[in-house]
Amino acid sequence: MKTDVCEMLQIDIPVFAFSHCRDVVVQVSKSGGFGVLGAAGFTPERLEEELNWIDSHIGDYQYGIDFLIPAKRIEDNDTEKLKAMIPNTHREFVTDLLSKSDAPELPTDYQGHLASAEDGATIGDRPFEMLRTTLENHDKISLYVNALGTPPPEVINLCRKHNLLIAAMAGEAKHAARHKAAGCDIVIAVGAEAAGHTGDISTLVLTPQIVKEVSPMPVLAGGGIGSGEQIAAAIALGAQGVWAGSIWLPTIQSELTPIQRNKILASSSKDTIRTRCMTGKPVRMLKSGFTEAWEADGAPSPLPYPLQYLLTSDAAARFEHYSIEHMVSYPAGQVIGQLRDELSVRQVVMQLMEEYIDAVERLSATLDY
Ligand SMILES: Cc1cc2nc3c(=O)[nH]c(=O)nc-3n(C[C@H](O)[C@H](O)[C@H](O)COP(=O)(O)O)c2cc1C
Repeated sequence: MKTDVCEMLQIDIPVFAFSHCRDVVVQVSKSGGFGVLGAAGFTPERLEEELNWIDSHIGDYQYGIDFLIPAKRIEDNDTEKLKAMIPNTHREFVTDLLSKSDAPELPTDYQGHLASAEDGATIGDRPFEMLRTTLENHDKISLYVNALGTPPPEVINLCRKHNLLIAAMAGEAKHAARHKAAGCDIVIAVGAEAAGHTGDISTLVLTPQIVKEVSPMPVLAGGGIGSGEQIAAAIALGAQGVWAGSIWLPTIQSELTPIQRNKILASSSKDTIRTRCMTGKPVRMLKSGFTEAWEADGAPSPLPYPLQYLLTSDAAARFEHYSIEHMVSYPAGQVIGQLRDELSVRQVVMQLMEEYIDAVERLSATLDY
C-alpha cells in the first residue's frame, strides 16, 4: 500500500509508530514503515545513547523524533521553584498512597527506562536544547513530531535548517488549522481512544473533520489502530496513513516491565481511563489503584501541567520499581483490548498488511455486488 506521504518520507507503507523503545523504532522503519522515538521521558545523556543505538542499528533507513513541547512555553526552568508551588494537600495525598502501598524511596543508583519529570525532556528550555543537540548529531532523523500543540516558531526554524519534515498532533479541527498556518507538513489526528495525551473526539469522527480542514495537507489517523481493518478505515476516512502507539507495547522489542506487559495483554478496552492524574493534562492510561485513588470522592483535583507530573512521576517509578502490581499503570489506548499475542514488530507489520489487503478486497467486493 502506498500514499503520497510514503513519497514524502521515502517509505514503503504509511504506518507510523510512536515508541519509547529504540528497537521498536528500528524494526518499524526496517519493516517498511516509519519509527518515531518519543524523547520526552529521557535525560539528555540517555537520549543520546538511545539515538546512537538507533543510528548504528537502522542501516540506511530513516526515523523520527517526538518531543513534548507545548505551544505556550513553560518559561521557568527551575523545577525546585515549580515543585514549591505544589500544595501540601497534594503532597500528603501521594505520600499516603505510597505508604499504604509499601513503596519505599527509590535506591540512589536507580535508573529506570524513563526519567523522572524533573530529569526528562519536559520543563523549560530543556526539550528545545535537547532537540537542537539531537538534530546536530543525528542525520538519519527526517521527521519531527510535536506532541503538545503547534510547534513554536523556533522549533519550526530549527527543523527547517536540518531539512526535517514537521508533524503535529491535533485533537480538534481548529488545532489542525493552527498547525497548517504555522507551516507544518503533516497533521496527526489523535482520537480520544488513543494512549497518552488525547482529546475527547473519537478517531472516526475527528479524522474526516481534520482532513477537510487541512486538505491537501496529509493527515495521519491516530488512536485505535490495531489491525489492518482499522488502517483501511483510516484511509477510507481520507487519512494518508496511520499513527499507532499502543500496538507496539506488547511486542518482543518493547521494553515494558513484565507487569505492564501482562496487564496490557490481559486488558479489555474498558481497562483504560482518560485522566489528568498523571501529568495534569488528559492522558489515556491503564486503570490502576493509582488512577482509582485520584477518581475517588475526596481526592484532590489534579494540578495543572507540569505540576501534577512533577508530583506523581516519582510515585509511578516507585510502584514500577518495587512491582506494586495493583498500582502500576502505563499510557495505553482502548485498542489494547484486541492485543492478545506477544509478537515481533515485523510480525505485527506483516499481519497489519495482510489484514489491510483482506479489508480492501471486502470493500471492493461491495462495488461488484
Ligand atoms: C506508552 C505511550 C507513551 C506515549 N507518550 C507520548 C509522548 O510522549 N508524545 C506523544 O506525542 N505521544 C505519546 N503517546 C501517544 C502516541 O503518540 C499516539 O498518539 C497514540 O499511541 C496513538 O493511539 P493508540 O495508542 O491507540 O495507537 C504515547 C503513547 C504510548 C502508548
